[in-house]
Amino acid sequence: MKRIPITLLAIATAILMGCDSKSTREAAWQGEHQLTSPGKTLTLQFGVTPERGTPTYSLQFGDKAVILPSAMGFELRGDTQKKEFWNGGDITSNASEVLPLNSGFTIKEVKSSTFDDTWTPVWGEESSIRNHYNELLVCMEQEGTGYLMNIRFRLYDDGLGFRYEFPAQRSLAYFVIKEERTEFALTGDHTAFWIPGDYDTQEYDYVESRLSEIEGLMPQAITPNSSQTPFSMTGVQTSLQLRTADSLYINLHEAALVDYPCMHLELRPGTYTFVSHLTPDATGWKGYMQTPCYTPWRTIQVTDDARKLLASRLVLNLNEPCAYDDVSWIKPVKYVGVWWYMISGKGTWAYTDDYPTVKLGQTDYANASRNGRHGATNENVRRYIDFAAEHGFDQVLVEGWNEGWEDWAGNSKDYVFDFVTPYPDFDIKALNAYAQSKGVRLMMHHETSSSVRNYERHMHKAYELMEQYGYNSVKSGYVGDIIPRGEYHYGQWMVNHYLYAVTEAAKHHIMVNAHEAVRPTGLCRTYPNLIGNESARGTEYQSFGGSKPHLVTILPFTRLNGGPMDYTPGIFEMDLGPVTGGNNNSKVNATIANQLALYVTMYSPLQMAADLPEHYEKFMDAFQFIKDVAVDWQRSEYLLAEPGDYLVIARQAKESGQWFVGGITDEHKRHVDVPLHFLEAGRTYEATIYADAPDADYATNPQAYVISKKQVTSADVLSLDMARGGGFAISFEQL
Ligand code: NOJ
Ligand code: CA
Repeated sequence: MKRIPITLLAIATAILMGCDSKSTREAAWQGEHQLTSPGKTLTLQFGVTPERGTPTYSLQFGDKAVILPSAMGFELRGDTQKKEFWNGGDITSNASEVLPLNSGFTIKEVKSSTFDDTWTPVWGEESSIRNHYNELLVCMEQEGTGYLMNIRFRLYDDGLGFRYEFPAQRSLAYFVIKEERTEFALTGDHTAFWIPGDYDTQEYDYVESRLSEIEGLMPQAITPNSSQTPFSMTGVQTSLQLRTADSLYINLHEAALVDYPCMHLELRPGTYTFVSHLTPDATGWKGYMQTPCYTPWRTIQVTDDARKLLASRLVLNLNEPCAYDDVSWIKPVKYVGVWWYMISGKGTWAYTDDYPTVKLGQTDYANASRNGRHGATNENVRRYIDFAAEHGFDQVLVEGWNEGWEDWAGNSKDYVFDFVTPYPDFDIKALNAYAQSKGVRLMMHHETSSSVRNYERHMHKAYELMEQYGYNSVKSGYVGDIIPRGEYHYGQWMVNHYLYAVTEAAKHHIMVNAHEAVRPTGLCRTYPNLIGNESARGTEYQSFGGSKPHLVTILPFTRLNGGPMDYTPGIFEMDLGPVTGGNNNSKVNATIANQLALYVTMYSPLQMAADLPEHYEKFMDAFQFIKDVAVDWQRSEYLLAEPGDYLVIARQAKESGQWFVGGITDEHKRHVDVPLHFLEAGRTYEATIYADAPDADYATNPQAYVISKKQVTSADVLSLDMARGGGFAISFEQL
């Protein structure tokens, strides 16, 4: 390890940021331990500051500073010693006091190592992933308390991961975290692609702004949601994508969020420094820990090209290997569903309009009058099964199949659903038998209405019912405020619940796609039956007034960094007024070609064709792309990318080896040249190109597309135009 000289840049920045002279000295200090990434792209410095003994790190990309010296540590609740009372010790500590765990440290030992391995994901954007990093483990002790805290750094060529580790120790056996104080001191007023920090939802559209503009833009960024708790005028969520003036792409997120609250970032007013902000529990405290234990990884991805960020597997790599011996039951899924029918406002989840309120077990559904708009009827579900079988889909999602939807949302009701009792017009046995006779499966739906206590009460019976009828996947949901009341969607208690649901499901060979759950942090590597999540603003918002066209160019950099999204693309009828008989006048802000491209640009092993069968029947030539496109890949090539602007991605299907390309743009029309160098040299392919028509436009003419065919080789470059809110999709057949 060698001593690093104080950098002038750090001093200059600290002065510019208006720090006082003492903190300027501390901020300028670089630490005595250094780690470089395997290819020497990134350099980490770490040490404890001379004056306060604060663990401090900084990060450089080549000769460019990425993170200036930034403090690390925690504040703990003051009664960490309480358990000593029961064991004969005294109880002198006080819960209302704060124990600082971010100063007074001395370094006891430093170990470095290197790791290089290649692993095979069960499903993914490619068939093998290299995990190559250099590691630094720093073991520290706090003077006075004797508390032991280690920090483990893993430095990759495309980023840094670090986590706090607490060895088993008598003096710090149990502790409660008041706040984590990890800083990310950025070097300037970078461009950020952000959504408001919130303890309950990520269902916001993105704002692209300078860091210094976040505070002013926050009020308009906080749009309504059925459960939301924004916490600060400068709080934002991870995965946060940043771009510097000299075109570095920096992403802040976390990996392997287990038994710990979800981390947000809060910009310290008047600075460019983010500080971690954990989601609290109902009492306001944040994390409940027992040593030995560790936190999730804090991740800082850094590249000089946006495409390399999309190719980064750092978050997955920081997760543990697969926890299951047998994964043969986990399969990617392409599905249709009785869903848009309700989300669009055309029909209902509820069976009847008779009841203003429903009490499960007491409501007489058999004698209730049908409202005539219920989606999950035997007749309608059979129609979807026929459609799925005819067009090669694996599954049919059916929502609103079970009793309780008459008053499911907005009432903080404990016992809403039992997850096993079908409505009278949904014959669970016959419909599953019918689906399976046609080579299709039904997909289960468990809307918990955020009554999590109630879901855990019924979960095992619900999973058993699924096994009984041959369901192997469930879409679950957490709409509304959490019960137990006062808990938040992203608190430690809920983080534990989501994983419990996944691991219990695995015992029944069930795959889980949880909506409104905490945003993913790469746990699908360890638990690959976590086949998808929503946890962001999905297509449903196109029916709740619309999303901005730039959303889908940002999500792959942010939300998808931690795992796939069940975005539910594929809407072909954009004007919902006529579709819903005037119930909903929203417009889907996309062209048909853009919707096709999302099957490639929005990676997921779980892809839905979300629109109604009768809408696809009107555009069968365009629908062909959705039928053809794969959902599991052996290779992905990120051809063009700029967050907030455009994306062009090529992917090769795992089994067939067939290539597909998707391209999308934001609210601007664009011309792009797409190189086909990924195709096998010396071969000729027929490219089927689904493009926006010259007069296409998401706002005025979204259904105008042109399908053309062209013979191409790997030496060709396709010249393509995208309409506003548009895009293109291409499939390649080798001739
Ligand atoms: C919200 C989900 O995102 C949506 O897909 C689902 O249809 C509704 N909740 C009802 O569960
Ligand atoms: Ca949702």
